[in-house]
Amino acid sequence: MGAAQAARRGFASAAAPFATDSTGRILPHGGELKNLFVTDAALKQDLIASCKHQKECSDRNACDVELLSVGGFSPLSGFMNQDVYDNVVQHMRLPTSNLIFGLPVVLDSDDSAIKEGDRERDASFAHLTTHPVSPCATPAEVRETLPPHQDVVVFQCRNPVHRAHYELFTRALHAPNVRSGAVCLVHPTCGPTQDDDIPGIVRFHTYEVLKAELQNPAIKWAYLPYSMHMAGPREAIQHMLIRKNYGCTHFIVGRDMAGSKSSLSGEDFYGLYDAQNFAKEHAPELGMQTVPSADVVYTQEQGYVTADVAKKSGLSVQKLSGTKFRQMLRSGADIPEWFAFSSVVKVLREHTKASSEA
Ligand code: ADX
Repeated sequence: MGAAQAARRGFASAAAPFATDSTGRILPHGGELKNLFVTDAALKQDLIASCKHQKECSDRNACDVELLSVGGFSPLSGFMNQDVYDNVVQHMRLPTSNLIFGLPVVLDSDDSAIKEGDRERDASFAHLTTHPVSPCATPAEVRETLPPHQDVVVFQCRNPVHRAHYELFTRALHAPNVRSGAVCLVHPTCGPTQDDDIPGIVRFHTYEVLKAELQNPAIKWAYLPYSMHMAGPREAIQHMLIRKNYGCTHFIVGRDMAGSKSSLSGEDFYGLYDAQNFAKEHAPELGMQTVPSADVVYTQEQGYVTADVAKKSGLSVQKLSGTKFRQMLRSGADIPEWFAFSSVVKVLREHTKASSEA
């Protein structure tokens, strides 16, 4: 889009602040979206014939296979070998291109018969020929649903969308660094997560009811076949590069993103804003921006405000921990509307009932 046209559409700055592809959407990580599906029947036969090992993937690894196949991990075109793994762990970069990469992506196997070279070969075979049956739209499919030449703010989550989340992603559309005309992509992970989190399939149903209820054209929805690592700052980078591949320009990051507890002390392992600060520091290198949010809390007097504002103004903060929330789901206690959407609570209760009867 030319400068004059951009100005007519009301953009503050004429040029898109990110590098775009020919469709006007942000360039994928490394410049090109990978697609590892084999369409050539002869090649497919060849690969099947040369397969040395058969292996059933863990649920977590199955997510990696799907993301590799559809290009969510672009520029990767297969699992990482030892060199790449080491470089990513030590330097957070792919060795040859020097491109930033948050976490390793490896095929896990405890089968000592499988050697490193075999692994690469078998991994290629697996993701070249398996068409995943998944509710998750591919990066290419998601990109097509996004308006070109506009900011696309993505909201990553691994929990059902509660009111605090809703505040975060609706406010993000009006953030100072987001241009008017932007859309928000709510892009929850649906793979395995922490043991005490709500299972992906149940969350999927909560998202579907909320999507239908909100009916907001500025809020788009899609699902990500990703298993959470709870690796805080590094994981924020991983989520960002994946979302860049899905066509997103801005990444919402709040407090303690992908955080976990120390297995020794039981305390939060990362600082409240470690992931947020790290994401912000590395965003320019990814050609993206962050939309950071301070910790938001619900107050009787003013609804959702930041924890700092609540403290400074002496407001009465209402709190409901995840543990208490799950207890209330089980006991059938009323869950306040300020905390969660009743449509979401209804789905969660049905799941709680079904799993306690199972
Ligand atoms: S995860 O990505 O951090 O693992 P989660 O569903 O818990 O998933 O949170 C999604 C996003 O909302 C993260 O960016 C997290 O930092 C942010 N977030 C959740 N609750 C709050 C809150 N009360 N205040 C600010 N940010 C929040």
